[in-house]
Amino acid sequence: MVHKQSVVVMDFGGQYKELIARRIRELHVHSVILPCSAPIDKIREISPVGIVFTGGPNSVYKDGAPACSAEVFRLGIPILGICYGMQFMAHALGGKVSPCETSEYGKTEVIPENSCVLFRNLGKKEIALMSHTDYVSRLPEGFSPAAHTKNCPIAAFEDTERKFYGVQFHPEVQHTPNGKKILKNFLFNVCGAEGDYNMNDYIENEVAAIREQVGDKKVLLGLSGGVDSSVAAALISRAVPHQLVCIYVDHGFMRKGESEEIEKVFSGMDLNFVRVDAAERFLKKLAGVTAPEEKRKIIGAEFVNVFREEAAKHGDCEFLAQGTIYPDVIESGANNSANIKSHHNVGGLPEDLPFIGLVEPLRGLFKDEVRAIGKKLDLPASLVNRQPFPGPGLAIRIIGEITKEKLDMLREADAVWREEVENAKARADQYFAVLTDMRSVGVMGDFRTYDYTLALRAVCTSDFMTAEYAHLPHSLLERAASRIANEVKGIGRVVYDITGKPPATVEWE
Ligand code: XMP
Repeated sequence: MVHKQSVVVMDFGGQYKELIARRIRELHVHSVILPCSAPIDKIREISPVGIVFTGGPNSVYKDGAPACSAEVFRLGIPILGICYGMQFMAHALGGKVSPCETSEYGKTEVIPENSCVLFRNLGKKEIALMSHTDYVSRLPEGFSPAAHTKNCPIAAFEDTERKFYGVQFHPEVQHTPNGKKILKNFLFNVCGAEGDYNMNDYIENEVAAIREQVGDKKVLLGLSGGVDSSVAAALISRAVPHQLVCIYVDHGFMRKGESEEIEKVFSGMDLNFVRVDAAERFLKKLAGVTAPEEKRKIIGAEFVNVFREEAAKHGDCEFLAQGTIYPDVIESGANNSANIKSHHNVGGLPEDLPFIGLVEPLRGLFKDEVRAIGKKLDLPASLVNRQPFPGPGLAIRIIGEITKEKLDMLREADAVWREEVENAKARADQYFAVLTDMRSVGVMGDFRTYDYTLALRAVCTSDFMTAEYAHLPHSLLERAASRIANEVKGIGRVVYDITGKPPATVEWE
């Protein structure tokens, strides 16, 4: 271990643990997430400077509510309980938790006790995200209240003797603007953390963990050229150089120059890079297909076929590596939403492949952290800062039947559009071109033309769940439209899509 100190995050359910761990990482403290049922010896072994209890969806007084060993309270280690974690602490130590008369949801005004170390350097009133239907109605012995809200008399509590603290709200989320300061106060002013951890340590720890997991065995990774699988490849190749085989299935729907760049970057690393040129196979399967969902399904299935064939050629690989990141884990675990589009990620592989283990070194990280690691591993900025790009690629940006000619047309036009947006330093989170199925009449020189209409898209969004069209300057739109109509044969008209999401989606198919 490179760093000296750790904090244990005890998971009481829900989706909070990784966000808490992330905030702790941001404060340069190493953390380990354990289920709340973890044996006490495991915690002793880690010897943390502090423990955080996460929130969770249960009621502490109901049968089967998640609990940790009572021994945790006898370790002499500071504890911060968040939401359910606070209620659990109260319940376990002899206080009382009751249903709220008025539940609190959303941003709420919290009035902290200035004397409480958690709120050091904070205001007289703070905004915090509340989300609870139970509350601590009687304090356990030794505790005093440390904050209240209009409806919640004990919105935070403390036992300064034992260094136990609780907050009813969520300091880990952005809706609690000073939440990070509260966590910082706990880590540095209660636990005595030194902030001896950074992203280099993350890399070193993961490198050590991968080495330990795979030993001298070989690892196979499906490389999509996206940020996640690229960073996973670079990290694993650092851990076990020459033991990693990366299969890059080129389905022919990548953007201009993209496959060549991927090949250049990865063939220069200590790994076995295999590029499979499957463009013709995919085009053949898609001949005559126009329905968006059918396209996606065919591409997904063919991708698996190609990958399976290639994996068989590397039958000596015993581990499968994936660039899974934390938001993927949430999406696949908590996906009750309607199937708007079947999202196919290149790299989303069948479960019956014959591997003895899965290597997922980025599983606990958020996208921006993955980018930061990519930079530290010397991946080029073009890869690390790559925009989101759908697994089926340009195939779902060509409306109607896909042909090689249309693909070439779109690749050129898309490259011009992206270049212009970048040159103008315009603010947009994702921008690309879509080749519509519509042709229209135009005139070029003395001749009548009957060419395709290209749609330009640029959106601003933070989470891609909702988006608004980017308000780009007309001069940029005009320059791009004129260049595309002049430079790309087959495109005679250019339009700009000004629809938001909802009602539209970001992609057209
Ligand atoms: P939509 O079109 O659903 O897109 O509003 C939201 C974001 O997701 C990307 N997207 C995909 N990403 N596989 C992916 O990995 C897919 O099949 C896929 N479809 C859409 C899209 O580019 C946007 O960033």
